[in-house]
Amino acid sequence: MRVKIVKDYKAISEAAADVVEAALKGKPDLVLGLATGSTPLGMYEELIKRHQGGMDFSKATTFNLDEYFGLSSDHQASYHYYMEEQLFRHINIDPANTYIPNGINPDPMEECKNYETQMKTAGGIDLQILGIGTNGHIGFNEPGAPFGGTTSLVDLAQETVNANARFFQKLDEVPRQAISMGIKSIMNCAEIVLLANGAHKADAVSQALLGPVTEKLPASVLQLHPNCLFIIDEAAAAKLPIT
Ligand code: PGA
Repeated sequence: MRVKIVKDYKAISEAAADVVEAALKGKPDLVLGLATGSTPLGMYEELIKRHQGGMDFSKATTFNLDEYFGLSSDHQASYHYYMEEQLFRHINIDPANTYIPNGINPDPMEECKNYETQMKTAGGIDLQILGIGTNGHIGFNEPGAPFGGTTSLVDLAQETVNANARFFQKLDEVPRQAISMGIKSIMNCAEIVLLANGAHKADAVSQALLGPVTEKLPASVLQLHPNCLFIIDEAAAAKLPIT
């Protein structure tokens, strides 16, 4: 794994947008894996700015990591809604080429199987953007998620429910389940870039980079990936011995 430590959140967002821009230049029909949450917001803002300057998404395809189970795409806390608001409606991507698990498919098992098939049919993900949970989760793969797992219906850890409550009116509105790409789906991506900012991520980042590779800390599996870059700010790097 490679680690790039930058000054602050703005620098993370620019460095991440640089990686996406370079990948898109090299392969206009890039298959790009996307994440939600607070961390990638600055990168999306940067990508929108660059699109206004000519960056072309017309041939790209995107796959999101996850969606809450039970939330429809018009629910304001759904990841469909988030992606539309934060990126898609501002760029020239073809909506037919944007994939996010359907959180209201009455047959979630079928949804998971279809999602894996759609990724394979697209030729696999070229570049996957990840955040990291304070408990080390990637996507909604919580501690204990099997390294061999593909897209599935998963239970959210209480820590995740609490952390994400800020996007809902009340804690009990936060869904307890999600459809998430599995660890194996993520490890199949050709290139991975994980973004983390802030002191609250420092423990998870240091364990992911330097701790044992264990299902107890899902992001630690990335130590086994041949092309993975962590872009983190100084606060998130504070528990690394090199700083
Ligand atoms: P955050 O979430 O970007 O909102 O901190 C990251 C994650 O849970 O993966």
